[in-house]
Amino acid sequence: MTKQVIFNNQTETEDFAKALALKLKPGNVIRLLGPLGSGKSVIARTIIKALGTKEKHIPSPTYTLVQAYDDTTTPIAHMDLYRLDDADEIFDLDIEYYLENGILLVEWPQIADIHLPKNCITIEFEPSTEDSDIRKATVSGIEI
Ligand SMILES: Nc1ncnc2c1ncn2[C@@H]1O[C@H](COP(=O)(O)OP(=O)(O)OP(=O)(O)O)[C@@H](O)[C@H]1O
Ligand SMILES: [Mg+2]
Repeated sequence: MTKQVIFNNQTETEDFAKALALKLKPGNVIRLLGPLGSGKSVIARTIIKALGTKEKHIPSPTYTLVQAYDDTTTPIAHMDLYRLDDADEIFDLDIEYYLENGILLVEWPQIADIHLPKNCITIEFEPSTEDSDIRKATVSGIEI
């Protein structure tokens, strides 16, 4: 269940994220991998909007590590673990509540993978060799 996708521009990435959002259920975890500036937050932001938040500004959780949305059809925790020093610190971020009742969107999940479920959805952007808006990604764990 692994698929290669190409997004020719940001709109195509957002359209993919909207289609994905329609399929998400409570308990789903999405691991977002890829280099800095590859589009992980674009995917997360689009999903959060698609699930109905009224928040106008959806900040990157780069410094806060987690931003929670409870006005969406399913509660969402959007995490960025780039600055996490230790896997166990993820428990300070209310992960258990969202694993049971919500959707977890996790940028830079690698450090905490031992605490994430086996059946995650994974979107991995490839490093881009050219300076353009084209993004290649591998998607696994869900059929789109
Ligand atoms: N096809 C595309 N898909 C997504 N983003 C694109 C695309 N083309 C250009 N961009 C631009 O690339 C940038 C992606 O930024 P984003 O914040 O999503 O990266 P990120 O992977 O979350 O990085 P970080 O690791 O720093 O959190 C944005 O500035 C966006 O406008
Ligand atoms: Mg980001």
